[in-house]
Amino acid sequence: MTDAETDPQDAIDATAGRAERDSRVYEHSAGDGQEGIPFIGAGPGDPKLLTVAGRELVEAADLVVHAGSLVNSELLEEYCAEAETVSSIGKDLEELIPLMRDAYEDGENVVRLHSGDPAIYGAALEQMDALEHEGVPTYFVPGVTAAFAASATLRTQLTLNEVSNHVAFTRPQGKTLDADEDHIAEFVEMGDVTTCVYLGTHAVAETMDRLLDQGHDPETPVAVVYHASWPDEDVIEGTIATIGDRVEDAGYRASALVIIGEAVAGDGYERSYLYDGWASRGSDDAETEADD
Ligand SMILES: C[S@@+](CC[C@H](N)C(=O)[O-])C[C@H]1O[C@@H](n2cnc3c(N)ncnc32)[C@H](O)[C@@H]1O
Repeated sequence: MTDAETDPQDAIDATAGRAERDSRVYEHSAGDGQEGIPFIGAGPGDPKLLTVAGRELVEAADLVVHAGSLVNSELLEEYCAEAETVSSIGKDLEELIPLMRDAYEDGENVVRLHSGDPAIYGAALEQMDALEHEGVPTYFVPGVTAAFAASATLRTQLTLNEVSNHVAFTRPQGKTLDADEDHIAEFVEMGDVTTCVYLGTHAVAETMDRLLDQGHDPETPVAVVYHASWPDEDVIEGTIATIGDRVEDAGYRASALVIIGEAVAGDGYERSYLYDGWASRGSDDAETEADD
């Protein structure tokens, strides 16, 4: 244990079977500034893809605890050159929580910057619960997740009329997921799902081999977008049969988003109902519901 007043694990354990919903859920919208430490999505890399709300908070910060290499150092230099910046890489909760708590209690403006959106493979909630347990309020500020940057780069949609009706954000088996918790094959099997694989750059070849072994169509399109929105962004395209070798040749082992499915190509779709006169003829909620 360090100088944290309570063990962060106790705070996490205490969330099990939470008796009541936090009243802040009903008092604030996602765009509101709130009291406490904001957990901000820095976006995929390009500083321009940080939200306005996130940028204002980062600009006012005294201490920025950030997620390391996937938070672009240009963003830190551009928006918070005067602030103290600390990378969370290699630090455990027992170190991070007192660091943020003490600075906050000393009256500093503290922000926590996660890459992309903190709600996707961000492990934000355990930090927030531990801080709240220490009496430090926290809240989320959303960001642009890597899959959205990658689809913009590919000039396609993740949902595409008559091609893909669903999107899966997933990761491959490994240290965190056992083989039976890896659902990539099931999503691909569904056919009309765009499968966005995070944390899988090092395992593209193995993942594709598993899909081939299970009899999935080798011609299914796959794109791998390395460092989406960064100056060194790279796009590798292929199929379930070819992409593994192409990624190995390129030498990428991290920091790429793997997108599997017919929507990758951005073709073969049908005109949507929305711009086909249907919305104006339909029910009251047609305009808001029919947006593909
Ligand atoms: C720990 S997860 C964090 C994801 C992040 N919270 C998000 O919403 O994008 C890290 C993984 O996200 C993906 N990733 C993050 N930023 C990326 C980018 N700019 N381009 C491609 N993939 C990215 C990679 O798959 C990487 O292994």
